[in-house]
Amino acid sequence: METKILRNISYGVYIVSSNDKGIDAGCIINTLTQITSEGPLISISLNKENYTNEVIKKAQKFAVAIINEEINPNIISTFGFTSSKEIDKFKDYSYEIVDNIKIINEGTCGYLLCEVVNIVDVKTHDVIIARVIDTKKYNDKKEMTYRYYHEVIKGRAPQKAPTYEPNTNEEKNSSGKYKYVCDLCGYTIETDEELPDDYVCPLCGASRSHFIKE
Ligand SMILES: Cc1cc2nc3c(=O)[nH]c(=O)nc-3n(C[C@H](O)[C@H](O)[C@H](O)COP(=O)(O)O)c2cc1C
Repeated sequence: METKILRNISYGVYIVSSNDKGIDAGCIINTLTQITSEGPLISISLNKENYTNEVIKKAQKFAVAIINEEINPNIISTFGFTSSKEIDKFKDYSYEIVDNIKIINEGTCGYLLCEVVNIVDVKTHDVIIARVIDTKKYNDKKEMTYRYYHEVIKGRAPQKAPTYEPNTNEEKNSSGKYKYVCDLCGYTIETDEELPDDYVCPLCGASRSHFIKE
């Protein structure tokens, strides 16, 4: 089966967040779809290992902030490549609290507040179906697409994202370049030479040791 065509499926980029008995969690997702206008109902797909999934299952409600193209890329690195179990992801960014849920309100167009209606177990992930019970629009800025995230922000999908694709390139890729990926934010660089020891990630500031050759 030719899986390359899956890359032509379009998505947006979102921050889903929740709170259960004072515990906050949030992560980046691209797998949000509106599934009915009545309700209205949406679905999201969350990896079972993501802490946000655990918290949503307990709280039975969550918020989705719609990321815009002007977002500080560090917000995507923090929410998409670290775990809420280990760090407070919200502390350096602006947020509002609705129904006890922290919602990032910088670099986002607005939010949907949702309550869980059904959860479908699909082995590695849970597909969470939810009713939108409230919304707020912050601005008219352009929402970020998954293509924009890859082509302009130059981020990639981490292992726990449903759209993750392992890279099978060896030393140099088919264009004769070395390819490195920052394991903190996913920034990808292709160069003719190996990366120097003092190289610093232009997206999240990580040191050279965070770059993995693909
Ligand atoms: C662009 C992008 C898209 C992602 N999409 C999803 C997704 O749809 N579902 C998912 O479970 N994880 C997705 N992830 C991965 C989670 O955001 C990541 O595993 C996060 O560290 C989980 O944090 P948590 O443990 O605090 O929940 C995505 C990450 C990025 C950067």
